[in-house]
Amino acid sequence: QILILDFGSQYTQLIARRVRELNVYCEIHPFNNIPPITDDIKGVILSGSPCSVRDAGSPDLDLSQFRGKLPLLGVCYGAQLMAQKFGGNVLPSEIREYGRAKLNHVDMHSDLMKEINLGSQVWMSHGDTISDLPADFEVIASTPSVKVAAFKIQNEDTYGIQFHPEVTHSTEGKELLRNFVVHIAGCSQDWTPDVFVESTITELKEKLGNDKVVLGLSGGVDSSVAAVLIHKAIGENLHCIFVDNGLLRKNEFESVLESYKGMGLNVKGVNAKDQFYKALEGISDPEGKRKAIGRVFIEVFDQEAQKIQGVKWLGQGTIYPDIIESVSVNGPSATIKSHHNVGGLPDKMNLKVVEPLNTLFKDGVRLVGKTLEIDQNILGRHPFPGPGLGIRILGDITAEKVAILQEVDYIFINGLKEAGLYDDVWQAGAMLLPVQSVGVMGDERTYEKVVALRAVSSVDGMTADWCNLPYEFLQDVSNKIINQVKGVNRVVYDISSKPPATIEWE
Ligand code: XMP
Repeated sequence: QILILDFGSQYTQLIARRVRELNVYCEIHPFNNIPPITDDIKGVILSGSPCSVRDAGSPDLDLSQFRGKLPLLGVCYGAQLMAQKFGGNVLPSEIREYGRAKLNHVDMHSDLMKEINLGSQVWMSHGDTISDLPADFEVIASTPSVKVAAFKIQNEDTYGIQFHPEVTHSTEGKELLRNFVVHIAGCSQDWTPDVFVESTITELKEKLGNDKVVLGLSGGVDSSVAAVLIHKAIGENLHCIFVDNGLLRKNEFESVLESYKGMGLNVKGVNAKDQFYKALEGISDPEGKRKAIGRVFIEVFDQEAQKIQGVKWLGQGTIYPDIIESVSVNGPSATIKSHHNVGGLPDKMNLKVVEPLNTLFKDGVRLVGKTLEIDQNILGRHPFPGPGLGIRILGDITAEKVAILQEVDYIFINGLKEAGLYDDVWQAGAMLLPVQSVGVMGDERTYEKVVALRAVSSVDGMTADWCNLPYEFLQDVSNKIINQVKGVNRVVYDISSKPPATIEWE
């Protein structure tokens, strides 16, 4: 495997995903909490960082533990750190370089640059530049404005690159990473979804034996794939619970429950709508709603789990980004929204936790789901927040408002599917606003609710752009909503990107 040491760059997870795409396993660890270096680590990648190596107190690392012992690749900050520590010089760039550049010098004889073409486009994002290299370093790639775009230390498998091969704008970035990971570090490309499925099932069998596991299904990709994997290992000893919190999409509870049963899962559907509505009565504050929904979910789930005799484990669909220890170089980050996951469950229930997907990124989970032949209807779904429509109804929640929003959402989502746009959109949904507006219907004045439609493109939800949906499509959906959903007389489309907006309105 490859060890990726994180110095806090926004691109670190992207490096890991690119390495995984080469079917090579890798892990991300913070630069200041390095795991023991075992024999299966074949190479080390140092990430970028928002910091400058010239600043006092910027992330630092004793590189002698790796240099000459393992193939080493520094990316951006990682490269600058190497240059600086080994006797070179790093200075502020005259201009902050951000964006595309073209390589105008490539040393094709260098193993790292093999088959990287002259003129290849690379993605730059840096404020510092390596001005002098130590004597035993050689330049292996340049751009017109960055002489040291890539370097190698002579007679060592130690490399640094100023650009970001992990970003798709570096058009041959994947080849470069392959050169490092496969040809230089010698990793074999055998970490495939099939192998993952096979070895995970074997491990789960060993770990769980005849024990019973309880798992909460949400209808989403992660919990579904986790359930199918565990089911393959222990069959009926996996007890799934699917809670209707009254905040799901229209018909979702019934249809997803059917698909789960069709997949052979031992699943119990629990209608707890009233409990949720009661707990939410009069609460308008977004965080207050999240807390109430989280609390009732735990109560309902716990109550159901108690009914299963002798259950020992709690299965969860936790994925790798949920557990990567993040490097905070700018102080602790502010809580924007407390994402409700079922994090409180294990403590409360006194169960051991089994999380078969906790080494995978989302795209890996989808590939594993495909190998497991899970229906595309489940695998291809847009993300949907745990608190569901609860955070898409601005202000307090009532069953009546939920019913209105479900109809609006249904028309929008179904419309996307029918127009063949659903898969082009990362996430879509509708918000019910606490606003009434004047309209006219026939000869009557109306004073009714406003809904906002939101559709975004994104990679991981951390940043997002609003989707440029065709006007005719928006027009058609808007007409349908206003004509068919009683109580709504105005539809608006959200054209805000994240940041500075967020995807959900609450
Ligand atoms: P924001 O609104 O923070 O959303 O831009 C980013 C992604 O997270 C989802 N989201 C949530 N998911 N519980 C969840 O399980 C939550 O409380 C929550 N809030 C936002 C959101 O749908 C988007 O995919």
